[in-house]
Amino acid sequence: MSNQSPTNNLLEAMSTMRAMRRLKTDPVPDEMVVKILQAGQWAPSAINSQNWRFMVVKDFNTKVTIQAYYKRLFDDVITPHYATNDPPPGSNAAKYERQRAAVEYLTDHFHESPVWIVACLIDGENPDRVSGASIYGAVQNMCLMARALGLGTTLTTRHTGYGKEVDALLGLPSSAHSYAILPIGWPMGNFGPVHRGPLKDVVYGDRWGETYSGLN
Ligand SMILES: Cc1cc2nc3c(=O)[nH]c(=O)nc-3n(C[C@H](O)[C@H](O)[C@H](O)COP(=O)(O)O)c2cc1C
Repeated sequence: MSNQSPTNNLLEAMSTMRAMRRLKTDPVPDEMVVKILQAGQWAPSAINSQNWRFMVVKDFNTKVTIQAYYKRLFDDVITPHYATNDPPPGSNAAKYERQRAAVEYLTDHFHESPVWIVACLIDGENPDRVSGASIYGAVQNMCLMARALGLGTTLTTRHTGYGKEVDALLGLPSSAHSYAILPIGWPMGNFGPVHRGPLKDVVYGDRWGETYSGLN
């Protein structure tokens, strides 16, 4: 089985759902986009408010204009980050460089992904600390459905560095904000496995810093 394969196995989908940043420009059928959107709509939200709005963006000019902001943030924020930070847990210098190169690739080709889903939330003028909890579950569901269908995507939030400009460009009212852009397409590379640090490094027991006995 090629690891570009679709899967109905949830454990396989979760453990192989890498950020797929190298995407083909071939179109993605609307039936598949609708399945991804439906997965988003199945997500929970506070008081079941479902205040999300999912924008399906295909217009090339819109994508190009937003890509320019995305690229500016790559140059101003992401490049210095990679230059001054060590690889994260579960990674190493070689993997970190491959990740940086893929991030740069997606930056340069962001607008060429055949379809974007922009996840927006009607969250009022002053979103608070839990606002995102009512949209990122939907975003993760959509990423998982894309993986299940054999489509690649990456949860991206970098555009929020120019959130006001991007939201205005997309015509959002002031009561709504965009929280993520999912560029979706057929992957060039293979899915998973994901690289993470050991579970014991991030799990505590009854008090912060205490060992959880279940991990012994
Ligand atoms: C909140 C959040 C924001 C992210 N924003 C971006 C982004 O703007 N651009 C990007 O290329 N990847 C972005 N990512 C993807 C992460 O960099 C990626 O999931 C992480 O490096 C782990 O890589 P893997 O999923 O391939 O294992 C984001 C992920 C999260 C959870």
